[in-house]
Amino acid sequence: MITAKEYAARCNELMSMMVANSIAIITAAPERIRSRDTHYPYKQATSLSYLCGFAEPESVLVLIPGRDQGQSLLFCREKDKLRETWNGYRHGPEGAVANFAVDDAFPIGDIDEILPGMLEGKERVYYAIGKDPEFDRHLMSWVNEIRGQKSRGSAPPGEFVDLDHLVNEMRLIKTASELKVMRKAGEISARAHCRAMQISVPGIYEYQLQAEIEHEFMASGASAPAYTSIVGGGRNGCILHYTENRQKIADGDLVLIDAGCEYENYAADITRTFPVNGKFSAEQAAIYDIVLQAQAEAIAKIAPGAPYNVANDATVAVITEGLRDLGILDGEVAELIEREAYKEFYMHSSGHWLGMDVHDVGDYKIENQWRVYEPGMVVTVEPGIYISPDNTTVAEKWRGLAVRIEDDIAITKSGCENFTSGVPKTRADIEALMATN
Ligand code: GLY
Ligand code: MN
Ligand code: MN
Repeated sequence: MITAKEYAARCNELMSMMVANSIAIITAAPERIRSRDTHYPYKQATSLSYLCGFAEPESVLVLIPGRDQGQSLLFCREKDKLRETWNGYRHGPEGAVANFAVDDAFPIGDIDEILPGMLEGKERVYYAIGKDPEFDRHLMSWVNEIRGQKSRGSAPPGEFVDLDHLVNEMRLIKTASELKVMRKAGEISARAHCRAMQISVPGIYEYQLQAEIEHEFMASGASAPAYTSIVGGGRNGCILHYTENRQKIADGDLVLIDAGCEYENYAADITRTFPVNGKFSAEQAAIYDIVLQAQAEAIAKIAPGAPYNVANDATVAVITEGLRDLGILDGEVAELIEREAYKEFYMHSSGHWLGMDVHDVGDYKIENQWRVYEPGMVVTVEPGIYISPDNTTVAEKWRGLAVRIEDDIAITKSGCENFTSGVPKTRADIEALMATN
């Protein structure tokens, strides 16, 4: 759990990076309609969640370092008995101050009266320009209002600076309590993958495996899948973001499941690939072992001080050599890597930052150089091989095979920790688990 004290520390850290006489404005995500008058489950904007944990829509966090009457302010919905009866609890401004690490709170309906006065005379406004067109318009109208009063001595803010860059760098390095939550998200997701392996049987539908996975997420206290679960039987595994999940899985097919839960606002992201009937065929085993070795060699290279791309380079080397040894690629390994011949079969990179967003924030390069791993970063390692069913340049026995293996790796002081090791990934361990259903 992230405590109010930690949220306050995050706001303080952000304010310490802001220039003197400045203001930061962080808006909530809008609610989105799914169908007529029903909405998608509400998901708070991650920057606002990160800074104060407030989960209601129609809210705006404002940070004004050095302000005597309070530096962190929240605009939020007022309490409303009728609306709360229909749509759920609201903290209201008083509840916000009592339960969240903000110094003061105001009704969102009063923002037009209050915020222009706070903007006036500020040198710099930190704001995620262009992310919320409706709020952009409000902000510009307040600024224009101040400009219109210039002759009466009002000073419009001097400059607008992207807020995300500062927050994203903070989010990239996780604290001990964030890592604890992410470890739990990984454990729950690993259990869900074990459950899918154990229930699997030829003729099962992809959506039935999805249901098993998501049952385990929700029964364990997760709030949702962190992204739409991918359950691809057979050739569907070759579609990287396959989410239809409607097909029956035939005896002899592999199943590729890429699914992770969101637990207390943090994502897990696991992929496992296994034979629906519990036994790898010779061809499946050959491809599987290359991907597993690629992943192992990448993880072995992840440690503080190593540049980000060591993991991707390791996966490319192992996959290229493996495909060449099987006769799927033809030529010298170095030359095949040089001309990126592997990309026909391994068309994504080895991973991404993981955190509150599944593809989490944070730069991968600094001044055009790969940044180095630091303790507190979390990255996925997810090599794969996908042989299109229509690829007539490879022997028929390989066509339609797809394998990806993905784990969530936290960088520690001495190396790294795998948050998702609870689900097996050697062929022997998968076959043993599947035999226990
Ligand atoms: N689940 C999306 C990804 O692995 O990046
Ligand atoms: Mn994934
Ligand atoms: Mn991923």
